[in-house]
Amino acid sequence: MQTQLNNILQAAKEQLANAATLAEVNDVRVKYMGKKGEVTQILKGMGKLPPEEKKELGQAANKVRNEIEELINEKMAEVKAAAKEAQFKAEKIDVTEPGKVVKAGVKHPVTLTIEEISKVFMNMGFSIVEGPEVETVFNNFDGLNAGPNHPARDPSDTFYISDDILLRTQTSTVQVRTLQKEEPPIKVIAPGRTFRCDTPDATHSPMFHQLEGLVVDEGITMADLKGTLDSFAKQLFGPETKTKFRPHHFPFTEPSAEMDVSCFKCGGKGCRVCKGSGWIEILGCGMVHPNVLKVGDVDTEKYTGFAFGIGVERVAMLKYGVDDIRLFYENDMRFINQFK
Ligand code: DAH
Repeated sequence: MQTQLNNILQAAKEQLANAATLAEVNDVRVKYMGKKGEVTQILKGMGKLPPEEKKELGQAANKVRNEIEELINEKMAEVKAAAKEAQFKAEKIDVTEPGKVVKAGVKHPVTLTIEEISKVFMNMGFSIVEGPEVETVFNNFDGLNAGPNHPARDPSDTFYISDDILLRTQTSTVQVRTLQKEEPPIKVIAPGRTFRCDTPDATHSPMFHQLEGLVVDEGITMADLKGTLDSFAKQLFGPETKTKFRPHHFPFTEPSAEMDVSCFKCGGKGCRVCKGSGWIEILGCGMVHPNVLKVGDVDTEKYTGFAFGIGVERVAMLKYGVDDIRLFYENDMRFINQFK
């Protein structure tokens, strides 16, 4: 019996030494100390022994039981500590490690240009309004004094959705909408997308952006138009910038003009950017035609106004020295990322 106890103790020691997890330690406990465990069985069998053996063996068996119990507890603590340690190691955060860089996008150069132009006009008291890209033929043509025979209405120039609906060819549509909705005084700009049946090349795209302006109030004259647009040009291209108005024709303005700015690259001497002329055309403008004012029921005896339309890509190309309009729409990050 004594030998048996010694063997049990020895075996338990070995198994505990090899146990590496809580579950394995627990297996050892069950094997020896559980209800049917080996030590438990021996202690249960004590009752059948003669009294003189009972005392001695009982003491020996209790001793082995206590020893195994202690070994199990020790091992249990050891395994638990090791598990904690491993967990700490796995969850350790190195606070000195460099953080993850959040990649922020950049604004598209067309957006930047719209924002820059808008800021200049907002500082002069203009509000920003918007109109839809899918428009009525009326708002795009008839309401802007371009009758049924106007050449721009040809389906080879304009994307029609139906006989009465099209993709707007100009942001001037917002003039009609604003005049119909609001009473003078009106002082708005309207940036947005426009569409024309153009084959893409270095200077043409079937989709591009314009920024429209409209001012209607009592006593507005050509002097207001020139003063406003001259100030705009100086703020956008620099205080040295000169402006020049050339007569032109638009159906919705009378008189109409195109505005040139002195070349910001060469200062007017003539270079590649201005094609040697010293001047760069940047917008169309004019005094709002009475027929347009009438579409909004504006009293043309009392009110006059001026309007202008700026080609956004054109300004962006000039400002940033971009020589092909298609670069704006290719979404090549190498191009876009240059406009930080
Ligand atoms: N809508 C004209 C175009 O697309 C640009 C323009 C010219 C707008 C003169 C105006 C204006 O408001 O007065 O060519």
